Amino acid sequence: MAAIVVVGAQWGDEGKGKATDILGCQVDYVVKPNGGNNAGHTVVVGGEKYELKLLPAGVLSENAVPVLGNGVVINLEALFDEIDGLEARGANASRLRISANAHVVAPYHQVLDRVQERFLGKRAIGTTGRGIGPTYADKVSRVGIRVQDIFDESILRQKVTSALDVKNQILVKMYNRKAIDPEQIVDYFLSYADRLEPMVIEAELELNRALDEGKHVLMEGGQATMLDVDHGTYPFVTSSNPTAGGACVGSGIGPTRITSSLGIIKAYTTRVGAGPFPTELFDKWGEFLQTTGGEVGVNTGRKRRCGWYDSVVARYASRVNGFTDLFVTKLDVLTGIGEIPICVAYDVDGRRFDEMPTSQSDFHHAEPIYETMPAWEEDITGCRTFGELPQRAQDYLNRLEELSGCRISYVGVGPGRDQTIVINDVMES
Ligand code: GDP
Ligand code: IMO
Ligand code: MG
Repeated sequence: MAAIVVVGAQWGDEGKGKATDILGCQVDYVVKPNGGNNAGHTVVVGGEKYELKLLPAGVLSENAVPVLGNGVVINLEALFDEIDGLEARGANASRLRISANAHVVAPYHQVLDRVQERFLGKRAIGTTGRGIGPTYADKVSRVGIRVQDIFDESILRQKVTSALDVKNQILVKMYNRKAIDPEQIVDYFLSYADRLEPMVIEAELELNRALDEGKHVLMEGGQATMLDVDHGTYPFVTSSNPTAGGACVGSGIGPTRITSSLGIIKAYTTRVGAGPFPTELFDKWGEFLQTTGGEVGVNTGRKRRCGWYDSVVARYASRVNGFTDLFVTKLDVLTGIGEIPICVAYDVDGRRFDEMPTSQSDFHHAEPIYETMPAWEEDITGCRTFGELPQRAQDYLNRLEELSGCRISYVGVGPGRDQTIVINDVMES
């Protein structure tokens, strides 16, 4: 029995999709515990590139059952568009299962996301505009709509009507928008009911029974630690808990069952959207990482902000997620750059911080303290063992391991499924 949680260690886009795709071949279930169609995972299989937004990357694994867990927020239109797109390319999404307790994104959540961002002006979060924040806000305010509500028309009508009673006041009086007719929303949800129904299961029960039977379950977190609503750079975060604890809540799998907590971390750092980012680069190296790393958001097409590896962030993520292993991705991007800076601590107005500052103002003012290491010149994209890597690449990884408080078990040397070095296999730990 293995219950592995895959978590982004930085600000997202670390390569969680690729990591899940590799492990997905060895597990029975891949469950997405949080987020919605704000995610964007690129997976390259046999030279074919797939871009997933709402579905877990496990949908591309041959045998694993992909599951949208109770902690996910589902945009039904986006869900069926994505399934149709995959099936048109010959992929098989028919095994997909959905928790009856997952919440659904209503069209009014998307409207609210956009008007709220506009209203914030310069203070905008830079959300993906998919209605994620307003949907989670309704869930916590106990006025959300769940998947199971769609199969009981009278409950659905009651819930939509009471949610819109308040929202229409806000839309009309605060944002100068037209009121939304509840019947239109009820019809929107009902139009998906027949197609949705066969996919809906008691996911929390099924996943636990699978573990009881000795099967393997992988939880594929969306977003990342520094975007976590509790542990991230609040308020510049998403509205869910993409950390390991959140994966338990969002899948119904208890923390004592987790066998590995695998942190996915880039050999440098990127961020999309607004918010502090101490190692961000505004020079030719930022541009180098952006272009060589192909750092463009899958979801919104925005260029990702780029910077050097931040081991303060890595240590913090290792701590709050209890990482047992790290998967360092995109090491190949650093080939031939001369010297590689690694942020080891921050300087805040003359004070040194070896750990994440608690005060948001300190974090906003944090200046990275760097040490540098020489880069390797050799092409590493064909390396398949740690020993095949040039000595300087091995030294860089050894230093990252020392600084990050967790062993490195996987190294990515290219986007392909096979372009991975396995040092310790989490399926065997
Ligand atoms: P996710 O959101 O964490 O799944 O990550 P994204 O898919 O948004 O972004 C990661 C990008 O890096 C994708 O384009 C991957 O194909 C690519 N990628 C993943 N691992 C590696 C690697 O080791 N080397 C290179 N060059 N690209 C990688
Ligand atoms: P994956 O799973 C990178 C960012 C947005 C914005 C903030 C809030 O591909 O790593 P939201 O729409 O969630 O309310 O936006 O979070 N964000 C991501 N950044 N990768 C993601 O997902 C992200 N999902 C949300 O850019 O700054
Ligand atoms: Mg992504």
